[in-house]
Amino acid sequence: MPRIPERFIDELLARVDIVEVVERRVPLKKAGREWTACCPFHNERTPSFYVSPVKQFFHCFGCGAHGSAIKFLMDYERLEFPDAVEELAHALGMEVPYEGGGERARDDFGALYAVLDDAARWFQQQLPHSAEALAYCARRGLSEETLQRFRIGWAPAGWDGLQRALGTSAARQHCLEQAGLLASNEQGRRYDRFRERLMIPILDRRGRVIAFGGRIISGANPSREDQNTGAPARAPQQGDGPKYLNSPETALFHKGRELFGLWQVRQANSTLERIVVVEGYLDAIALHQHDLPVAVATLGTATTPEHTELLFRAAADVVFCFDGDRAGRAAAWRALESTLPRLRDGRQAYFLFLPEGEDPDSLVRKEGGAVFAQRLATATPLSDYFFEHLAADVNTTSIDGRARLAERARPLLARLPDGAFRDLMLEALRDRTGVGMRAAPAVRADAPARGGAPARRSLVREAIAALLADPALAQTVSPPWAFASLDKPGVALLIELLDLARARTGARVAALLEHFSGRREADALHKLALMQFPEGYDLRADFLGAIERLTRQAHGERFDALTRQLKQQGLSAEEKTEYQALHALRRQGQA
Ligand code: UTP
Ligand code: MN
Repeated sequence: MPRIPERFIDELLARVDIVEVVERRVPLKKAGREWTACCPFHNERTPSFYVSPVKQFFHCFGCGAHGSAIKFLMDYERLEFPDAVEELAHALGMEVPYEGGGERARDDFGALYAVLDDAARWFQQQLPHSAEALAYCARRGLSEETLQRFRIGWAPAGWDGLQRALGTSAARQHCLEQAGLLASNEQGRRYDRFRERLMIPILDRRGRVIAFGGRIISGANPSREDQNTGAPARAPQQGDGPKYLNSPETALFHKGRELFGLWQVRQANSTLERIVVVEGYLDAIALHQHDLPVAVATLGTATTPEHTELLFRAAADVVFCFDGDRAGRAAAWRALESTLPRLRDGRQAYFLFLPEGEDPDSLVRKEGGAVFAQRLATATPLSDYFFEHLAADVNTTSIDGRARLAERARPLLARLPDGAFRDLMLEALRDRTGVGMRAAPAVRADAPARGGAPARRSLVREAIAALLADPALAQTVSPPWAFASLDKPGVALLIELLDLARARTGARVAALLEHFSGRREADALHKLALMQFPEGYDLRADFLGAIERLTRQAHGERFDALTRQLKQQGLSAEEKTEYQALHALRRQGQA
């Protein structure tokens, strides 16, 4: 496992300015000591997203999103941790060190991206050399501009064209294989995975090629239904394989996480109110070409919750567009199910069902972009589709039917997040069935009091809150920590934090929190870090007071235990000394 040392993370977070990092992506307004905006992670009209230059973290009081500059980049740009660190470091001109042979692993990643990009270019270069492929593109109405924009290419016939062109060394061969561009037979012989296919690169959120989809262009044109039953409408040619061959899952490509066309959508729109999800590569491409650069496609998989999250981050309104056939309807319902938990207020999902036998590609080419845009504008809201679908085979004029509808709806509606939309859906259910649902008690993270004096809390929490507000306080105390023996929640955490802050002098709170990211305690710590202390508040007194009282409690407990033991079985010499010391402290009023 390549590891980035924590001290580098500290240094990075000490140098970076989160306000700048956020501002470059989300325009911020000054609000007192902080900066604010409408939250980029959920839809809202009044800002509840705050960025603190002092604490170097962001927090949304609406949806609870929070974290350091690293976390912001991970969430906003959908980057993995090392990539977010790389990006920040790069902007600051810092070099990321890796521990445990990690450097090589990073190089491999870089080499993988490079070989995929080279492959895309090579496929593009092959396209003009194939009259057959060019004719196919023309038949599908793909313009020259579209071919360029989507970097569409051609994988020629033969077993080693790509391999010979790019696999010039053992290392490159290895890369080609890791990138999913080569396959090997039982004898271990490597050959080009994609042959005689129109090559459609799949780009990640930063526009890098991470995979390909390759379509056969030969006579056979089996529809999805035919493939499901295994009975092609027309005889496929021998050895053609599936209509679309996709890259296998690789280190860079996880198809449940990627949306084809998202990069192009981002490039074409600086702000986006609505995004459209279609089923096929060529559906998305056709919509882009017909002045609807708002379409993305899932990659031959059902819509995953990860897709849904990506979609709602791109736009507040998501239109799911499905073929009118049975398979399309099944896919639509699955998409609805994965959408429910993500429907926070302000987000809306719509469903557009196309006429039987049409897909977005065929339709937009027939009727043009403007008419298709009309269809999008009149798509069915999720709520309508939801009840229509559930009630499709029940007679809602009968009591039994209404009960059945309620029974089916309830578990699904329970997945909706709290909010106005959920309330409306429950109301709609009541209207239709007369059956309501006991409103589940809202489990809300108690928003910490902002600005005012800190609320009453336990000594442990008080010490932690002070420490997070000013990590340098850790230098004012030193181990051994007498209070370690206390059986109180949070004591172990306090000690870990103290040790951490003492070891990492100068680390800012964001760096300390980063250390806990992914752990159970992370959220609680973050909430405490949000605590705001009035100007001139004596944090040091607070902190030392809490530590002292905790110490006194521990001493008291120990003294009582030793007293009991003295009466029952007596004390060892060592224990006697301890007892006397505690006794002395007690007389001085310190235990
Ligand atoms: P469809 O079979 O509905 O085809 O597959 P399509 O998009 O209309 O394709 P064209 O117009 O005939 O070229 C929808 C999507 O399912 C995935 C692809 O992502 C495709 O775009 N798929 C389909 C595969 O991954 N493999 C296949 O063999 C078929
Ligand atoms: Mn199609």
